[in-house]
Order: sequence, then structure tokens, then C-alpha cells
Amino acid sequence: MAFPTHRPRRLRSTPALRRLVAETSLQPRQLVLPMFVKENATEPVPIASMPGVVQHTRDSLRKAAAEAVAAGVGGLMLFGVPETRDATGSAGVDPDGVLNVGLRDLRSEVGDATVIMADTCLDEFTDHGHCGVLAEDGSVDNDATLAVYAQMALAQADAGAHLLGPSGMMDGQVGVIREALDAAGHLDTGILSYTAKYASAFYGPFREAVDSQLKGDRKTYQQDPSNVRESLRELALDLDEGADMVMVKPAMSYLDVLRAVAEIADVPVAAYQVSGEYAMVEAAAANGWLDRDRTILETLTAVRRAGADIVLTYWATEVAATLT
Ligand code: PBG
Repeated sequence: MAFPTHRPRRLRSTPALRRLVAETSLQPRQLVLPMFVKENATEPVPIASMPGVVQHTRDSLRKAAAEAVAAGVGGLMLFGVPETRDATGSAGVDPDGVLNVGLRDLRSEVGDATVIMADTCLDEFTDHGHCGVLAEDGSVDNDATLAVYAQMALAQADAGAHLLGPSGMMDGQVGVIREALDAAGHLDTGILSYTAKYASAFYGPFREAVDSQLKGDRKTYQQDPSNVRESLRELALDLDEGADMVMVKPAMSYLDVLRAVAEIADVPVAAYQVSGEYAMVEAAAANGWLDRDRTILETLTAVRRAGADIVLTYWATEVAATLT
């Protein structure tokens, strides 16, 4: 009887051997926690479709940020949930709007101990729920939206954000924001561009998280899940316009896109493990169908393996705390 010459199992035989040969690592500094702050909230409001995630009050936002920093989390990405909305999303530009107030709170709480990021997008602030302003025919007006993004970016930089995250998929958004920041002297405020963002059903729970008013979909500005080539075009444009980092979103169903982007990007690459990815694992775990902790670590390791330097995940603090 012939015995196999090659025995890959040899390197799997003890935990120490497996640790020695692991190709992918997961560290707290690579994780970014998305957070929600709700205007005039007196108690944190649980988000039913995202068990364990809340819309924060200003106080609970500070506490959660301090916990994230203590766990070594690499960054915080803040979203605002305003009390009133209008057609142009003016609360997003207002220095006293909930997102800008929240950014100031975060910066005063944690300073430079972690990286404070802002969602630079209108969908939380518009009464129609789209990521931009509408033209008369009801379509999302790309260039009119850019002018608002530029103002929003300045308000967020003034409020203390280290990085701005334009997530609206308007053409030219990175260039317009860079130009506005530079003209105002915000030379060190960076841009983490949502470069490849797909029109995904996995954003479902997020709509509850930000009390979204959207009816319909975002398919005229977010990408078609069928395509990978246009993500490379988006990448080239974002880099040309001055993106400091780029992102692929969602993560788990787009690992091939992430790999393709990571192979050619000459800036750090992030991936966003979105609300639906979180909800799926939490729901299955609550039913006893998946081992929660193992599944979470496996998903994050897979996203890193596919090429993400940085992963946005609602589990950031919890996972970071177990890693340290
Ligand atoms: C848009 C934005 C969305 C998410 C992050 N930024 C919603 C959307 O594009 O519909 C989704 C994040 C998630 O699902 O966790 N500002």
C-alpha cells in the first residue's frame, strides 16, 4: 500500500502549529465601529433588526465611544438620525444638526485616541430618503447634490471628523469634497471613499437604524450586483480625485470585488460588513443554528483574507475586546 508523500495535515496538527502558519490576522486596530446618534433621544433606542445595536443619546454615544477606544478599536463611523427632514437634507449641513453635534461630542470625548469618521451623505436627512437632492422629474440630481456634499464636508471637518466617508455614489463626490476641504484649509482631513457600493438588499436593517424615509431603491446611483469591472473604474476615478482610502460595501457577498480592488489600490482598502450581514448571523445564532462567536470571527477573518486592511463592523468593540 502506497502512503501519501504530501501531508498538508501535518501543519494543522496542534494549535501552536496552526497559529504559527496562520496567514491572516485580526487586530482591534483594523476594526471600525459604525454608530448612530439620535437627535433629542433621552434613552438609547434599540434597533429591532440589529440586536445589540442602538440609536445613541449624546451621553450613551460618548460612553460607547470610550469603551470602543478602551478595546483598541481603530475608528468610529458616525451616522446621525435627525428629528426633522426636508427635501434638501439641510440638517446634514447645519453645524447644530445631530450628526455634527455628535461628531463634536466624539472628538471632545476621545480626541485623537481613535479615528473619527463621518458619513457624508444626505439619505438620513432628506424627507424622501435619497442620498442626494432631487431634480424636478424626481431623479437624483448628481451635480446639485455635489454642492450640498461640499458644504456638508466642511461642517463635518469643522466638527472634528478626521476622515469623511462620502457614501452617496454621486459621480465626482471625492473631487468636490477634496477641493472644498483644501480651499477651507482642512488639508489634514482625509477622505475614506465608498468607492464600490452596491445597491444591496443587505442594507435592510440599516434603514430601520436611521429611520429611513426611502420608498423605492437606489439603483440609479448604487452599483448593480452583477458587475465587478465598474468597481475598478470607480476605483480609478476616486484615486484620481484624491481619495485617501477606499471602501467596498457590502463585504461578504462581494469578496471577489474586494480582492480585485485590493490588488490594484495603492491606498488602504476598507470593507463594510453591513447591517444585513450582522442581522443574519445574530438571527441564526439566536435560533441556536450557528455558533455566534466562531461565526463572527470567521466572517471578519474572511473579509481580511480577501484583502481588506480595515473592516467596518457592528461587532467591532466586542471583537476587539476579545482579541486584546
Ligand atoms: C448611506 C448608507 C447606507 C449604509 C451606510 N451608508 C444605506 C444605503 O446606502 O442604503 C448602510 C450600512 C449598513 O447597512 O450597515 N448613507
